[in-house]
Amino acid sequence: QASLLHRHKGTLFSAMSSKELLDSLDSFDAREDDIFLVSYPKSGTHWVAEVIENIPGAGITLTYPIEWGDISKLEELKTVAKRRVIPTHLSYEMTPVSVKQKKCKIVYIVRDPKDTAVSLFHYYRDNPNLPSPDTWPSFLELFLKGEVVYGSWFDHVLSWEKHKNDKNVLFLFYEEMKEDLVKTIKKMTAFLGISVDDTEMSKIAQNTSFSEMKSNAVKENCDPNHTVCALTSDRNLVFRKGVVGDWINYFTPKQKSVFDELFREKMKHSDVGRCLEEYGTQM
Ligand code: A3P
Repeated sequence: QASLLHRHKGTLFSAMSSKELLDSLDSFDAREDDIFLVSYPKSGTHWVAEVIENIPGAGITLTYPIEWGDISKLEELKTVAKRRVIPTHLSYEMTPVSVKQKKCKIVYIVRDPKDTAVSLFHYYRDNPNLPSPDTWPSFLELFLKGEVVYGSWFDHVLSWEKHKNDKNVLFLFYEEMKEDLVKTIKKMTAFLGISVDDTEMSKIAQNTSFSEMKSNAVKENCDPNHTVCALTSDRNLVFRKGVVGDWINYFTPKQKSVFDELFREKMKHSDVGRCLEEYGTQM
């Protein structure tokens, strides 16, 4: 089980991201019109990807994650003719330098960390590419220490939050998508500079509902070359519950208070932290 993960620059990665590939990420040549879809795992990446793919006339190709596979995958990305939407769970520091230099558009999706932890716990349990956790309490401990794939949730979010107000960066919250998906789709299309009318917007929202996506995942044969998350290409592992606040079914009062204390400490200067508190699932 230990060999399912390896460490790169101090952070855990799955064996699905080869060491050679991670070592050569900085040789990745971004295009000015690339769109990066960035998130910590289990924040709603597939959802946002599906929304973007459903925008009529967007003229984009959703690729596999930049950190997925072996070094040949990086070459393969060059063959994509259309405007690329490239998902990744990389922190800001690990993101290829050309993405920053070219100021590629970046959509960053963030989710309440307690819900993210619960979602990641299930992913660890169900995904054969990740080591099975013993129990929820032991997994939570690893999560809080950042001893999970892609490292600490706090470090990830804070590394990207420094760039939240850059013109080429759009921050989205899972909770805002749950609250009003059409409004978020509006934000997204405006950011990407694609015009979409209201009817089309509600259609996108319908097509990307949790139930719709879940039942499509069951129907579709999974294409191992078409993956949004570098941790699996099996979409059936992704659509679990799709709600806000499921953490309440897992956290004991003691676990909640330990978590909240760390949250308050780490996020004390963070606007994203304040927003998450306002969504009301945090405290
Ligand atoms: P849960 O495990 O809490 O159900 P990612 O795509 O980053 O791997 O995130 C997966 C999480 O997003 C899962 O959370 C999944 O159910 C949820 N999700 C995926 N599609 C969704 C949708 N259309 N609506 C709401 N939640 C969705």
